[in-house]
Amino acid sequence: MRNLHLRIWLFAGIIASIVLVSAHCTQSPYIQGEILYSNFCESCHMQDGSGLGAEIPPLAGADYIAQNQEKLACMIRHGIAEPLVVNGITYNQAMPGVEVLSDVEITNIINYVNQAWGNNHGTVTLGEVRKQLEACRH
Ligand code: HEC
Repeated sequence: MRNLHLRIWLFAGIIASIVLVSAHCTQSPYIQGEILYSNFCESCHMQDGSGLGAEIPPLAGADYIAQNQEKLACMIRHGIAEPLVVNGITYNQAMPGVEVLSDVEITNIINYVNQAWGNNHGTVTLGEVRKQLEACRH
C-alpha cells in the first residue's frame, strides 16, 4: 500500500514537472522579450510604451509599427537617425542601435512589442528577422 502511494506521488510529481516545463517553454520567448525591452528600450519608450512627449515616439498603438514591420530588426540593431512620422507626429531624434542583441533576442523583442499594451501586429519568425538583418549588415 505504501508503495502504491509512493508511486502515485511520483507520477503526480512527474506530470507536474512536465506541465511546468512546457508552460515555461511556451512563455519564455515573450518573457525574454519583456525583460530585454525593460533593459534596452524602456528608458526611452517607457514601460507602457507611451514614449516621451515630442522627443520619443510611442510604441503602444503606433501606426508606424503596423506599417513598417520589415524595418524593425535593422532599426533595433543599428538605430535610426532620420525623421519619422508616428500617428501623425514627426519625430527627429536619433535612436541608438543595440549591437549586442542576438538575432533571437531581436526577434523576441519585436514579438513582445507587437503584442504588448494592446498592440496586435502578429509575430515575426527568426527566419524573417535574419533575412532583414542580412540586408542591413555592415
Ligand atoms: C535613447 C533612447 C531610445 C532607446 C533606448 C530606444 N529608442 Fe526606439 N526610438 C527612439 C527615438 C528618438 C525614435 C525616433 C527616431 C527618429 O526620429 O529617427 C525611436 C523610434 C523607434 C521606433 C519607430 C517609431 C515608433 O515609435 O513606432 C521603434 C519601433 C522603436 N524605436 C523601438 C525601440 C526598441 C524595440 C528599443 C529597444 C531595443 C528602442 N526603441 C530603444 C529612442 C530610443
